[in-house]
Amino acid sequence: MAIIKTIGILTSGGDAPGMNAAIRAVTRTAIYNGFKVKGIKRGYFGLVFNEIDDFTSRSVSNIIQQGGTILKTARCKEFTTPEGRKTAYDNMCAAGIDALVVIGGDGSLTGARIFADEYDVPIVGLPGTIDNDLGGTDATIGYDTALNTIVEAVDKIRDTATSHERLFFVEVMGHMAGDLALNGALASGAEAAIIPEMETEIDQLADLVNRGFRKSKNSAIVLVAENPKTGGAMGLAQRIKEEFPEYDARVTILGHLQRGGSPTAADRILASRMGAAAITALSDGQRNVMIGVKNGELVYVPFSKATNHSHRIDHDDIDLVKILSI
Ligand code: F6P
Repeated sequence: MAIIKTIGILTSGGDAPGMNAAIRAVTRTAIYNGFKVKGIKRGYFGLVFNEIDDFTSRSVSNIIQQGGTILKTARCKEFTTPEGRKTAYDNMCAAGIDALVVIGGDGSLTGARIFADEYDVPIVGLPGTIDNDLGGTDATIGYDTALNTIVEAVDKIRDTATSHERLFFVEVMGHMAGDLALNGALASGAEAAIIPEMETEIDQLADLVNRGFRKSKNSAIVLVAENPKTGGAMGLAQRIKEEFPEYDARVTILGHLQRGGSPTAADRILASRMGAAAITALSDGQRNVMIGVKNGELVYVPFSKATNHSHRIDHDDIDLVKILSI
């Protein structure tokens, strides 16, 4: 196994609050342990197009509280081709980078797995996504902050929903995962969460109406996970218009608002612990693993498991949302 002297770090895919805290932890833990660090700009794009800077411990000063990522991020088409990855590998070698820490979600870690397999590059991943949709980890960096942003927004929508006695569909992100919608509903006391994981099991909108969700209430808030197949909140509002015209629904799409903002303490701590663990993992000869957290303990999750869509939502929580909103 080749000796690692220089570690490259990049953030890739959708940004997530806490990525900066992770960059800081990776950089400073690496330097503390005698490694050199290079910051790669715009995710894999920076490897393909050679945007690589030397990092010192001062490069990551005053960023723990900042949302977004100081390294910038991108979804890089070139890296999905063998030619692009060859260029990336050549640039990485020319820059003297022996190992990578990749902070990102499903697509980014899939890219890491393919690159590591092709070029035998030691890579450790950190789960950086608001979606919380990776296998083998209870939480991802950015999820807690996004959840808190959703709760704050829904609390505000509730004021107007109550005043006008209206039904609101509030659409949240999540890619194809319902975590933000489900836990957002639990935390904000919403009447229901409509999530992709339940789509084939029941007609969630009909179930909501049949439950008589408005019998004892003048207003209602339903958190809807984005879903291109059903059209998300807009799709549901359209169905309400056609199938249940007695209800007057309004739609709010929270969108990219959920990706911004200063990370919560929970995300900063998670990112700091995971960032440090990435350096320990590389030092211990771990390769092609993502750092995960299970029951409060940091664990190594093979890339194949992290990206196999094995993450599941808790069905008890779906029932709990319904019970607590009677
Ligand atoms: O993966 C993070 C995420 O915010 C998803 O929740 C969402 O589906 C997607 O990224 C949006 O991507 P973009 O910013 O490229 O539109």
